[in-house]
Amino acid sequence: MVENLNKTKGIILAAGRASRLFPITLAANKQLLAIYDKPMIYYPLSILMLSNIRDILIITRKEDLSNFKSLLGNGKQLGINISYAIQKKPKGIAESFIIGEKFISKSNCVLILGDNIFYGEGFRNKLLSARQKSNGATIFSYQVKDPERYGVVEINKDGEAKKITEKPKKPKSNLAVTGLYFYDNEVVQVAKSLKPSARGELEITDVNKIYLGKKKLYVEQFGRGFAWFDTGTPDSLLSANNFVSTIQRRQGLSIACLEEIAYKNNWISKIQLKKLTDLTSVGSYKEYLKQILYK
Ligand code: G1P
Repeated sequence: MVENLNKTKGIILAAGRASRLFPITLAANKQLLAIYDKPMIYYPLSILMLSNIRDILIITRKEDLSNFKSLLGNGKQLGINISYAIQKKPKGIAESFIIGEKFISKSNCVLILGDNIFYGEGFRNKLLSARQKSNGATIFSYQVKDPERYGVVEINKDGEAKKITEKPKKPKSNLAVTGLYFYDNEVVQVAKSLKPSARGELEITDVNKIYLGKKKLYVEQFGRGFAWFDTGTPDSLLSANNFVSTIQRRQGLSIACLEEIAYKNNWISKIQLKKLTDLTSVGSYKEYLKQILYK
């Protein structure tokens, strides 16, 4: 068990056509679009790093692979190991575990969707405690006004999952399932046992239903002081941009600054941080790195 815990691996799914954002995403990968002052993928990557996960697989489309590689490389500069894999067709979120089978090997696995942005106090503790459960699955719910757009979870008065439904027409709860999932190693076999849904995808909700059936699905709730954005539509993309800019300009603290997290996690030295800072061209991001460096 302890061995699995130490080896927990992370997957970022950054594929898909993002057709609801056309024409923005006609020729550009959505997860490389800006969220205020950084590419979108920095945000989910920062969540894995805050979960102390250093082995990370980025799954993307063939045509976008070289862009991700030039942005993040093998991760060594951040003290992490990044590898890459291709999703050939949009066959669903749960296909990540089949594509990533070799990468996951005997480990537990965290999956985060490349277009989900999370922010809130105490988040790191929630992440670390989800990681510590070596058995079962942990999902995170968030109250939204439009639950029909998401996977929806119903819970009982003890906070236990009762039912989970993908995009219900008449949702019985307003708790959306966010795009962050912690699983034990069983998830690979679970994903392999799935049949495609009506929309032709291997649904992550079907994975979670199987864990629920085994009474091994845990739901962590994000409360009202927490922020979760998906960036699926022009409006939600703009909201996420505005949110990050508002917090950063008010507090002078950067959300998802990967160099800062790597440094504070002791994964890179001060000398390495200085090198990264020197390599960053003049601008507000460089100024922020300098502040971290000379604080
Ligand atoms: C997917 C999942 C859904 C989840 C959402 C979070 O939806 O299927 O359960 O609530 O991500 O962003 P999709 O992006 O496929 O519409």
